[in-house]
Amino acid sequence: MNNYILEMKGIYKTFGGIVALNHVDFFLRRGEIHALVGENGAGKSTLMKVLSGAYKQDSGEIIFEGEKLSIRNPSDSLKKGISVIYQEFMLAPDLSVAENIFIDKLAEKRSIINWKKVNTSAKELLSSLGFSDINPEEKVANLSVAYQQVVEICKCLSRNSKILVFDEPTAVLTVAESEKLFSIIDQLKNNNVSIIYISHRLEEIFRLADRISVFKDGVNISTTEKNNISIDELVLLMVGREISQMFPEHNHQIGEEVLKVNNFSISKNQKPINFSVKRGEILGFSGLVGSGRTEIMRAIFGADSFNDGEVYINGKKHKYISPRESIKQGIGMLPEDRKQQGLLLEQSIQINTSLPVIDKFTKFFVIDKKLEKKEVVSTLAKFNTKYRDTDNNVSTLSGGNQQKVSLSKWILSDCECLILDEPTRGVDVGAKTEIYKIIEDLAQSGLAIILISSEMAEIIGMCDRVLVMREGQIAGELTSEISEEKIIKLAMGV
Ligand SMILES: Nc1ncnc2c1ncn2[C@@H]1O[C@H](COP(=O)(O)OP(=O)(O)OP(=O)(O)O)[C@@H](O)[C@H]1O
Ligand SMILES: [Mg+2]
Repeated sequence: MNNYILEMKGIYKTFGGIVALNHVDFFLRRGEIHALVGENGAGKSTLMKVLSGAYKQDSGEIIFEGEKLSIRNPSDSLKKGISVIYQEFMLAPDLSVAENIFIDKLAEKRSIINWKKVNTSAKELLSSLGFSDINPEEKVANLSVAYQQVVEICKCLSRNSKILVFDEPTAVLTVAESEKLFSIIDQLKNNNVSIIYISHRLEEIFRLADRISVFKDGVNISTTEKNNISIDELVLLMVGREISQMFPEHNHQIGEEVLKVNNFSISKNQKPINFSVKRGEILGFSGLVGSGRTEIMRAIFGADSFNDGEVYINGKKHKYISPRESIKQGIGMLPEDRKQQGLLLEQSIQINTSLPVIDKFTKFFVIDKKLEKKEVVSTLAKFNTKYRDTDNNVSTLSGGNQQKVSLSKWILSDCECLILDEPTRGVDVGAKTEIYKIIEDLAQSGLAIILISSEMAEIIGMCDRVLVMREGQIAGELTSEISEEKIIKLAMGV
């Protein structure tokens, strides 16, 4: 029998003038964990969408279990046992958690549905991943991004898949939660499921993969056994240069207080939160998924309502807390969920980047289009953003490149305090170092920065001070010798 469960040969795919996949060859062994890595826009997700039938290739063939596979749409590939967890989730927001997890089965069934059983099965699956706190009857729209991701993962685990594709499953998970997912993936592998795993977190790749393929500009440039390659060699292949230093040197001067949050709570039964951040300071917020970091920041920024408390900016009470007022007062916020809160997907890259700072380019009510374009192009270039034209829709960009657009607009704006919620989510290693450099530069120029991150290395490498949250409260503060162990202890309450 053929050693390969899947052979993708000479896959070619273009979008308008862009060649996304340039005759890609990709072979998947039975029961292996095969990692796909590569810079943002290299073509990883596109190849998986061709596999699932979401896109049709221009040319090239797919052989599945020794036979030529013709997939016309995603349900064809599902029937064959090919399941993809997409980078940008595909959940039905108005349905419950359980309904989403078992959506294919529910759609097939004509007879009466035993809801109790459906909910119990969903609960069991969620618990096996360590998320017994997610209520199967809750509407998916009410869940945080991370929890939505967990539902998406459970949905795929509930199917009997022969090939399971994970497109950046851990981008929103923290170390502790990712570990649970890894043991499930190991288990699947033991049951002879073949796994394709896409991630920008290279430690994970080395933890999980049997083999690694590197994509660059729509080409699979190398497939190797994991044991035959080092992290440094992998980065060199991906980015084309060595990265000696991930994090910039700290040279920022900490000045007076910019933002002060006093006795702040989002619900009646929550213990109020107090903290402040100074000019030139990078303050980290760590904690497990669901510990309340995003919720608190969204409320402080005015994107969600709060229960009680005050926010001061430069010693002055911030009276009308709303995103509009916050921006006026000099607070900016990069949201965690770029798809729902961060970007206008059907608008151009240009509009998305310059929207909050349009005043900067406006003189006597007329927008200086040339200046606007120049600034947008140069900011996007700082992160090596891949796009064809700033007039294209932002939805045509790869996941990581959308994130770069999301971040660029705040870099362009003149705020005094910038709240960054998972700024490097889905961003490749090369661009990550650029983002870190820019954050450091912003701090050096006197901005107060709040950095929410699930990546431990990022918190430790960037922050002057870290607040660790647990169950909606600040569990502790770390000011010196910040370590992974100390953070985890506080986050888990041990
Ligand atoms: N629907 C689309 N319309 C136009 N261009 C697209 C579309 N989908 C993808 N592309 C382009 O194809 C190229 C490959 O994108 P893809 O999403 O596969 O990258 P990726 O390797 O998954 O990147 P990332 O790590 O950022 O997720 C990019 O240049 C992207 O802009
Ligand atoms: Mg992708």
